[in-house]
Amino acid sequence: MSQSIPTPDGLPVLGNALAVGRDPFSYIEAATREHGPVFRVSIPGLSFVCYADPELVERALVTERDRYRKDPRELDLLGTLLGDGLLTARGESWERGREQVQPAFYPGRLREYANVMVAETERTVDGWHAGEHVDIHAEARDLTLSIVASTMFGIERVDETAVVARAADAITGRFEPSRIPVDVPLWVPTPANRRFERAVGDLEAVIDRVLERRAGEAGGRSETDDPDLLSTLRSAAEAGALTEQDVRDQLVTMLLAGHETTAIALTYALALLATHPDEQERVLDEVREVDGDLSPDTSLPHTDRVVRETLRLYPPAYMLFRQTTTADTVAGYEVPEGTRIVLPQWGIHRDDRYYDDPLEFRPDRWTAELRAELPDFAYFPFGGGPRQCIGRRFALLELRLALATVLRSVRLEATSSTEFAPTPALTARPEGPVWLRVRR
Ligand code: HEM
Repeated sequence: MSQSIPTPDGLPVLGNALAVGRDPFSYIEAATREHGPVFRVSIPGLSFVCYADPELVERALVTERDRYRKDPRELDLLGTLLGDGLLTARGESWERGREQVQPAFYPGRLREYANVMVAETERTVDGWHAGEHVDIHAEARDLTLSIVASTMFGIERVDETAVVARAADAITGRFEPSRIPVDVPLWVPTPANRRFERAVGDLEAVIDRVLERRAGEAGGRSETDDPDLLSTLRSAAEAGALTEQDVRDQLVTMLLAGHETTAIALTYALALLATHPDEQERVLDEVREVDGDLSPDTSLPHTDRVVRETLRLYPPAYMLFRQTTTADTVAGYEVPEGTRIVLPQWGIHRDDRYYDDPLEFRPDRWTAELRAELPDFAYFPFGGGPRQCIGRRFALLELRLALATVLRSVRLEATSSTEFAPTPALTARPEGPVWLRVRR
């Protein structure tokens, strides 16, 4: 006989709603610790089951993945903007898309992108002056957007950065937990919906301009160049394998998925280094040791540990959403068909069963022993299974090169106004500007 799934809090409905709405991060963290491995969160209009255990995460993403699919509600909301792009596509359309996009992430391509990553970061840092306070989140967003635009679409610069940034805000904002219980349908003309619609319209116009520009440069790229993602998709469209709309969907997806999460990770990494000057010094020593020579092969073990630790403590994708396609029994509990499932990176990455002093930023914890001992899904900032992040290696390379390039030129200091608490939207982005002082 299976038991019914526990709901934390004596007064489940109201208790959960208040706690989840006020601070979902602390709620998930505490509930994972106190009520794992499986518990239910019920708030008016929404109920889901949380798998707060690495083995169960692996079950949903890998071993029993046929019983789970991406949550259709999430796909529908995101799909308004991303259409049939890779992040939101289902079934055959996803399989085809993944195959078409994959070559843009082959290791040989990543090596070519490394130069762009370093050059764009240099350009960003050159704009900072000694003593200046910079909003590192805004800077990181512009930077990661230029990198993805330049590497994937072969365009030197998206002057329309602000439009993409606004669309990213509009779409991630639609996922704030405060909105979840009364999820207003998109067609109701609330001010937020009107903002969202406008942002989507502007973004589509930008993408069309990019496409037109490239069509106008026909032959601009030499025949011997490896085709970039945009050329690959356009050739597929010319051969009739894709519609113009498919091309647009993949482009919007890459622009958004490729810059938003990486910008958040870079922001937290720099803010954590600014608040841990000894760690910043160690990254700097490492960069000095290689004489500032930054390529994909440069060995930067401590920088890599900083990136790894940042993604543990502040995973930009802080929970994944799934739904059971058929009933499953997990940890002795019956989970019916159609149940919404949450896989909480935020809770598991901060659980002291896997990490000592889990709230401490401590890159040195990442020893070979820890990595060998850790259950596979005690660390999953990029998800797992077939729908694992396609940009994982891209993002890791970008983060290590960007950190090293920034610290090659400047030191960053926290000030009394430095704040970087996350806000719960689709991603765990910092709530407001993240001010750091530049020293040269
Ligand atoms: C630190 C940076 C990043 C993080 C934390 C991150 C995280 C994730 C996660 C957790 C997923 C899986 C979602 C799920 O299973 O529900 C995902 C999927 C995806 N990511 Fe990333 N990502 C990052 C960077 C990137 C970059 C740089 C790109 C592209 C250039 C990218 C493109 C995508 C795409 C297209 C998918 C959908 C893959 C599919 O469903 O086949 N991501 N990402």
